[in-house]
Amino acid sequence: MKPSTPFSLQPHNSFALDCFTDRFIEINQLADLEQLTQLSDESFYILGEGSNTLFLESQAPTIIKMDLKGITVNETDDAYVLNVAAGENWHNLVCYCLEKGINGLENLALIPGSVGAAPVQNIGAYGVEFADVCYSVNYYDFTNKQMLELSKAQCQFGYRDSIFKHQYKNKGIITSVTLRLPKVWQPKLSYQGLSDLVPPITAQVIFQQVVAMRSAKLPDPKKIANAGSFFKNPIVSKMQYQQLSQQYGKVPHYPQAEGNIKLAAGWLIEQAGLKGYQQGDVGVHKNQALVLVNYGGGTGDELSQLALFVQQQVQEKFNVNIVPEVRLISHNGEIDFLS
Ligand code: EPU
Repeated sequence: MKPSTPFSLQPHNSFALDCFTDRFIEINQLADLEQLTQLSDESFYILGEGSNTLFLESQAPTIIKMDLKGITVNETDDAYVLNVAAGENWHNLVCYCLEKGINGLENLALIPGSVGAAPVQNIGAYGVEFADVCYSVNYYDFTNKQMLELSKAQCQFGYRDSIFKHQYKNKGIITSVTLRLPKVWQPKLSYQGLSDLVPPITAQVIFQQVVAMRSAKLPDPKKIANAGSFFKNPIVSKMQYQQLSQQYGKVPHYPQAEGNIKLAAGWLIEQAGLKGYQQGDVGVHKNQALVLVNYGGGTGDELSQLALFVQQQVQEKFNVNIVPEVRLISHNGEIDFLS
C-alpha cells in the first residue's frame, strides 16, 4: 500500500484527463485489503485500468488501484475453470486462453480494461457477455473483512449492469473472477460481421475478425483518448420502436427477452447529425458516434458538457433518453447523472 500526494491520474484514465488525487492506494497483495476497511468516511473510487471512467473535475477522490495478478487453470471432465486476479488485463487473458487452446473468450477480444472491471460492467461484445463465461466472482467485503464467493446468479448480471453497481457498490472490492469455459466449444456467430465467416471456423478466426472489426470502428485510446462506448444502448417499448421505424424507416434494433427493444445509440447520435461533431478539444468520433473522444487538451467538464448536448439532441429528435455507460467521477466519488 503506497499513498502519495498529489498523484497524477493522467496515465490511469483512457480519456487522458489531467487530474489528481491526494491518495492513490495500490492493492498488490491480498494483505493490502485489510487497510481498506478504514475508508468508511472517505470518498473513494475503485479503479481498474481507467478505460471506462470519466473524471469530471481536476480533483479526484481517493483512488484504490486494483493490481492483484495471477491466473490459475484447472480442468474438470468437461470444462476449463480459470481463476483470474482482478488486476490482470482482459485482452491479455483472452490471448493467454487462445494460446493454451482454451476457447470461449474470442468474441471479447480487444476490450480495454482489467479483469476486475469485467463483472461490474458485465462487459460484452459481438454476441457474448461476461455473464456467459462467469462461474463466480470473489469479493472482499469491507464491513465484515471477509472474502465472499458470489455465484453468477448472485451477481445479478444485466446489460452493462450487475450487483456491483448497486447493492455492493463501494461495499467491497472484486479480487478475482472464476470463469468456466466448456471443453466442447460452440462458436458464437450471431453478431453482424461474424455470421458470414466462411468455414473452417476456429476460435482464432473469430478472434482475428473481432480484432479487425473493433480496430476499424473504435479509436485506439493510445492514439485518440476515449473510453469506448460513452452511452448505453437504450431499451424502449415495442410501441415506441414501431413509431420510430414508421417515421425513420430501417432502425437498427435488438429485440429483448421481455418484449422490449434495444436501439443502437450510435445510430441515434449519427441520425441526430452529431457523428464527427467537435466542440473545442473534444468530440464525437467520426467512425463510431457512440464514442466520445478527447483530441488532446480536453477536460472532464468539456466532455461532460458534450455528453449532455448529445443526450439533449437525441432526446429532442427521437424522444429517447440515452444514459452514460462510463462511470462519472467527481471529487466526491461517483455520480449517477450528468448535470
Ligand atoms: N451505428 C450507426 N452509426 C454509428 C455507430 C453505429 O449507425 O456511428 C449502427 C451500426 O451500423 C449498427 C448499430 O448501430 O447497425 C450497432 O453498432 P455496433 O455494432 O458498432 O455496436 P454498438 O451498439 O454501437 C455495442 C457495444 C460495444 C461493442 C459492440 C459490438 C454498447 C454500449 N456498446 O456497440 O461495446 O463493442 O456493440 O458488440 O453496448 C463498449 O461497451 O465500450 C463497447 C465498445
